[in-house]
Amino acid sequence: MMLAYFTLTGQTRKFVNKFPEVESVEIQPANPFIEMEEPFILVVPTYEAEITEPVNDFLETGQNIALCRGIFGGGNRNFAQLFCFTADDLSEEYNIPVLHRFEFQGSENDVAKMEEELKQYAQ
Ligand SMILES: Cc1cc2nc3c(=O)[nH]c(=O)nc-3n(C[C@H](O)[C@H](O)[C@H](O)COP(=O)(O)O)c2cc1C
Repeated sequence: MMLAYFTLTGQTRKFVNKFPEVESVEIQPANPFIEMEEPFILVVPTYEAEITEPVNDFLETGQNIALCRGIFGGGNRNFAQLFCFTADDLSEEYNIPVLHRFEFQGSENDVAKMEEELKQYAQ
């Protein structure tokens, strides 16, 4: 299991870096067309759709949609009903489950949730 993530201000990268044993790839706007070759969890922060468009490009590359086991959405609860809408929109568009939602670089609880998912898929 790998992690693929998008980040603008680095919070999501900090969350992903809490799992140093897991291989990760960063989705870069300049070249989002990375073909994954093994299952992965997508970790994506919340911004308007024009900003997160590279994540759509990434998912639509190769077999990436089929290989994506689920989405961890990052956001800020101050956005209330818009909390983590990017993860929700991607989930609906590509029929991939949202596994968890977290704020900024994630709490201990969020890290534990990811560890749980990684352990489950390792079996
Ligand atoms: C312009 C802007 C708009 C945002 N809109 C939302 C939003 O609608 N919902 C949400 O949950 N978080 C929103 N956020 C918060 C970010 O998704 C959150 O801080 C995230 O951790 C940033 O991740 P990054 O540092 O990896 O880019 C917004 C942040 C900015 C700067």
